[in-house]
Amino acid sequence: MSIPAMAGHGAYNEHATAQATAAGFGIDQLVAAARAAPSGPTGAVTIADYGASQGRNSLRPMSAAIDAIRQVRGSAQEIVVAHTDLPDNDFSTLFHTVADDPGSYLRPGVYPVAVGRSFYEQLLPTASVGLGWSSIAVHWLSRTPGALDGIWFASATAEQYDMWAAAAAADWRAFVQARAAELVPGAGLVIVVGSAVGEAMSRRSGAERAMATLRDALAAMAGDGLLSAGELASAAIPAWYRTAAEWHAPLAAAGLTMQHFEEFPLGDPLWDAAHSRQDPGGTDSGGVDRAYALSVAQSLRVSFGPSLLAGLPEPRRSAVATELFDRLAAAVLDDPGRPWFQWQLTVMVIAKPAR
Ligand SMILES: C[S@@+](CC[C@H](N)C(=O)[O-])C[C@H]1O[C@@H](n2cnc3c(N)ncnc32)[C@H](O)[C@@H]1O
Repeated sequence: MSIPAMAGHGAYNEHATAQATAAGFGIDQLVAAARAAPSGPTGAVTIADYGASQGRNSLRPMSAAIDAIRQVRGSAQEIVVAHTDLPDNDFSTLFHTVADDPGSYLRPGVYPVAVGRSFYEQLLPTASVGLGWSSIAVHWLSRTPGALDGIWFASATAEQYDMWAAAAAADWRAFVQARAAELVPGAGLVIVVGSAVGEAMSRRSGAERAMATLRDALAAMAGDGLLSAGELASAAIPAWYRTAAEWHAPLAAAGLTMQHFEEFPLGDPLWDAAHSRQDPGGTDSGGVDRAYALSVAQSLRVSFGPSLLAGLPEPRRSAVATELFDRLAAAVLDDPGRPWFQWQLTVMVIAKPAR
């Protein structure tokens, strides 16, 4: 069974501002790959958007890619945009977003479609994708690889680490092989993703402080009788932050090349956003701290909450999530003054050589 999708009913769209900031760092590479994007067997250029969620953060990159393709191939070039995500994804919000959002890429001759299957499988016909895009998605594993001390990979024991690392390597290999089949020769796949600082067991994602606080809050709630010891023990987030060596590892065997690879510190876009809104007189720093604490809790809730609490039945899961992320917001508010995240971002372009 694969992992649960992001929080539904448009909640991810509403609170995924940090992801939107991150995606922005891949646009230049996407435009460059779009200019060279080959058409598929029908004559249309297919853009695949791997891990699209509810679509809002795809609008800007898809618009940029469509404009670049048409600058080269002419304004009549037909384009298919295939948004892919897990079967439980809120595709209804995605299609309404594409149809109604003022920033939509929708124009005549552009055909949005969706695929509700895991990107660890081949999703589209062989040699049909002229351009790939994936933003803040391939850190998700296909499943929870096994038991974990704590909720986040960084607290794994040595034995747990080996099991998770092997599962993560197998997932990335499967992803790369599936894309190698789908891409048209000459096509590029642009990936923007959170990655690791450090190597092997000392690697960190930059979210460790928040995840440890979340784990403490969960343990306190178990102490308060709000979840069982078994539910606490099984709570784990199936995410993995890869090193440069891990990103490169399976490409050559799949017949792909790493055309561009760049790692840099992203920091904490939520912190930056909260502080850029601070009132010019600086009289309401409490308001800024509250806004920041809330944005940290909401952002983690919509992205990681569903998989963290997947073992709980509804409607208790929603009630536990509300209490848990309220406690997280309170903990963030209690310790203001420095950002809670130090994300590291990787932007890469994987190419399938032209024949
Ligand atoms: C953090 S969201 C990113 C969404 C969007 N690309 C963005 O930039 O905001 C990650 C998305 O990847 C999806 N995802 C995770 N594992 C997946 C898998 N195995 N197959 C397809 N989608 C997956 C999740 O359901 C989620 O919608």
